[in-house]
Amino acid sequence: MKISKAVIPVAGKGTRFLPATKCIPKEMIPLINIPMIYYVVKEAKDAGIETIAFISSTGKESILDFFDRNLELEKFLEDNKKVDLLKEVQEYARMVDIISIRQKEQLGLGHAVNEARCFISKGEEFAVLLGDDLVFAKRPCIAQLADVAAKQGGSVIGVMEVPKQETCKYGIVEGDFIDDKTLRMKKMVEKPAPEIAPSNLATPGRYILDSKIFGALKEIPKGAGGEYQLTDAINLLCQKEKVFAHIFEGRRFDTGNPSGYLKAVINLALQSEELKNDFINDFEEAKKYYEL
Ligand code: G1P
Repeated sequence: MKISKAVIPVAGKGTRFLPATKCIPKEMIPLINIPMIYYVVKEAKDAGIETIAFISSTGKESILDFFDRNLELEKFLEDNKKVDLLKEVQEYARMVDIISIRQKEQLGLGHAVNEARCFISKGEEFAVLLGDDLVFAKRPCIAQLADVAAKQGGSVIGVMEVPKQETCKYGIVEGDFIDDKTLRMKKMVEKPAPEIAPSNLATPGRYILDSKIFGALKEIPKGAGGEYQLTDAINLLCQKEKVFAHIFEGRRFDTGNPSGYLKAVINLALQSEELKNDFINDFEEAKKYYEL
């Protein structure tokens, strides 16, 4: 089945990026000159997704504006013959169809995904992408997971290896390998301490989920951190249904924290023909200046 819908939760307060997030959504903080959220939407679009539901909250309206037309700006660019910029700003509004669902209380990722139940039909598979994580890959990470879902059926969780001491930051999976990159899942645990983590395979927030997840989301009690955890619902789902974990190919950045954000900016600069040499030259200068 073709995956045509994605859910992107964007309701979080972005406390790790205060003070900037006092008045702008963290998703709109730019990586160089393009807001972070663009890269997540682009991953979905490049994987063939046509409609995105943002699970949103008050103060996040600028995300919707970014993916909408701005006729006043377009007229200004047109009048001033800034043709390339005009094309670029129009392009963001054409990427995908967007809907917005308000999450009225922030009760956890499981609660946020459950808000999308009216958007997904029974029997439909859909993607969930978390905006704090960017994955730069030759084939979009979510498309790699959709490939596994198309082959195996059921739900597929994107995972990567992390150092054992970092298991307490992620949803961690356990299962049996069916090929060198894919496991049939038996269990998923939210942020386990390293001593009790069932593996070091962690999700950076990329999921293909069967609509049966909504049944599981209804059943789970509050979990880690006193929140409704998507991980707990996936754990329940894999007791009854086919759920796979797939080690995706690509470089992942946790742009929800300043250090991951900086690395993503540097990687984007290195990917840009226009900025690469300037950045490298300045970095060499900086090393001398700061005696690194
Ligand atoms: C969420 C999920 C967790 C996942 C992580 C990826 O946690 O609950 O399973 O591994 O995102 O970033 P959060 O970082 O929002 O606390």
